[in-house]
Amino acid sequence: AIERTFSMIKPDATARNLTGKIVAKLEDAGLRVVASKRIHMSLAQAEAFYAVHKGRPFYEELTKQMSAGPVVVQVLEGENAILKNREVMGATNPANAAEGTIRKEFALSIGENSAHGSDAPETAAEEIAFWFSKTEIVG
Ligand code: CMP
Repeated sequence: AIERTFSMIKPDATARNLTGKIVAKLEDAGLRVVASKRIHMSLAQAEAFYAVHKGRPFYEELTKQMSAGPVVVQVLEGENAILKNREVMGATNPANAAEGTIRKEFALSIGENSAHGSDAPETAAEEIAFWFSKTEIVG
């Protein structure tokens, strides 16, 4: 089915000017960018967005890193978009990511792993609604 998912290009990647290279991989896989904006989130926004990870040992580092520089938040649309986006990103830890994936090619570490993507339909809907109003998504 045609799905929408949420994607974020993280500060480590925007700092290295990799936005276009990452979007090209997503587009080459058949995903369409139907919403996109570059933002610099506050620590409070990072804490709210990643609230599901609150209490985990990496939460503080994660929220600091995500608010340390600009990110590009996007909505991607396409056939099986949620799974497809995760395939193109590769494993969370770049050491485990497959050849040709975003994280294999660009990620520096598990924390500075260049991209985030929703893991399920429910989280996709939540994460899209967190950053975008309906009028900002143009399919
Ligand atoms: P992301 O998809 O953005 O979701 C949570 C992020 O936490 C994850 O990618 C990683 O960048 C970061 N992280 C840091 N350490 C860990 C860890 N040990 N396990 C999972 N995620 C981690």
